[in-house]
Amino acid sequence: MTLESQIINKAIKVQIVKGINSPSSWLKACALIALALTFSPVFSEPLATPDIDDIEYPEDEAPNQMEVELGKILFFDPILSANNQMSCATCHDPNNGFGDGLKLSIGHDDKPLTRHTPHLYNLAWAHSLFWDGRAPSLEHQVLMPVFDPSEMNLSQKQMLERIELSPFYKTQFNRVFQQDNIDTHLVSLAIAAFMRSIISSNSPFDQYLAGDTNAISTEAVSGLKLFEGKAKCVECHDGANLTDGSYHSLGIARSDKGRGFVINDDSMNFRFKTPGLRNVSLTAPYMHDGSIADLEGVIRFYNDGGGTGPNKDNLMEELNLTEGEIRDLIAFLAALTQPISIARPSVPNNFTTDPSIQKKD
Ligand code: HEC
Ligand code: HEC
Repeated sequence: MTLESQIINKAIKVQIVKGINSPSSWLKACALIALALTFSPVFSEPLATPDIDDIEYPEDEAPNQMEVELGKILFFDPILSANNQMSCATCHDPNNGFGDGLKLSIGHDDKPLTRHTPHLYNLAWAHSLFWDGRAPSLEHQVLMPVFDPSEMNLSQKQMLERIELSPFYKTQFNRVFQQDNIDTHLVSLAIAAFMRSIISSNSPFDQYLAGDTNAISTEAVSGLKLFEGKAKCVECHDGANLTDGSYHSLGIARSDKGRGFVINDDSMNFRFKTPGLRNVSLTAPYMHDGSIADLEGVIRFYNDGGGTGPNKDNLMEELNLTEGEIRDLIAFLAALTQPISIARPSVPNNFTTDPSIQKKD
């Protein structure tokens, strides 16, 4: 959330709570907000359990289970790649924290991509996708890897031809969307519906928030205090999904301009989206370039004040954490773990060569 919208939100809350409506009380409210800004330069949303009611669905309507299932089958179907060997799940493997465990992902023709595969947890609440936020919604994002020559490398026409060829998909699309003609928009709706269903909201930390004080260890409780205090993590990793949805440079990148390239603004160069931290213990290695192997490495990186690359955020200063505090922070991050197991569905295409994928028709 931008500072501006935080101020607006806060103002609205003040208005609701106090029933402010006269201009003079508005002035008072503004003065109060200015005061709050002076003493706490950065607002952070409290850490919380994600609220399903806050999810914004296309047309304001949650998809039905059939649509989610259809999206899931497409997600696992290598029919979406030129060589019929790569599905979304090849890189976003549910058994690997919806990542691939690699520093950099391997794309079409076994060539490495320039960025690390991110996890897919709780993207239902995300307002921008990719490390540089270049996709404004899941519907915009989900087919980009399919059409990207370095990833799955299909044309729109090829994708639709392949899907149309399958009697299974013809029937399913018809059942879900009640129309005979399968187009790219429907394919993206189905996959995005499945993406939004990947939700983790009952980790030990959530149980702790709900009042079960024994749900997390005393180390994790200390880690939580550090996360919100001395270690300053919450200044960027806030809210229910532990991300501000904004972009920062931690001093990692030197050539990948990240957000700056997307919006053609030098002040945003080398900044990347703050990733949500739910299930973060399952998704090593870390960062947009996969440069940090494990969580201990991540905490030590922050403890040293981050990297030496350009445009580094002012918050990145040495933290002077003790060895015990480093362990406590790791314990807190681990308390955000609630694995989501998704059974690999059988996929309906006839020409897959991947033996791990069963055939259906
Ligand atoms: C070859 C590996 C690979 C394949 C195949 C792949 N992805 Fe990705 N995915 C990535 C990488 C790498 C990124 C990050 C790219 C970037 O930020 O520039 C990414 C990013 C994403 C994101 C954004 C996550 C976030 O936090 O912003 C979503 C959602 C996603 N992929 C879904 C899919 C779907 C759906 C498919 C199948 C249609 C798919 N991916 C296929 C590697 C892959
Ligand atoms: C200035 C904002 C900021 C602060 C402060 C911050 N982070 Fe981050 N964090 C980010 C951004 C941005 C990234 C991604 C950076 C990149 O890939 O270049 C990130 C990445 C991470 C990752 C890797 C996640 C992944 O999926 O790859 C972890 C873990 C993490 N942060 C934990 C922490 C902890 C713990 C703290 C406190 C010690 C902290 N962060 C403080 C902004 C911040």
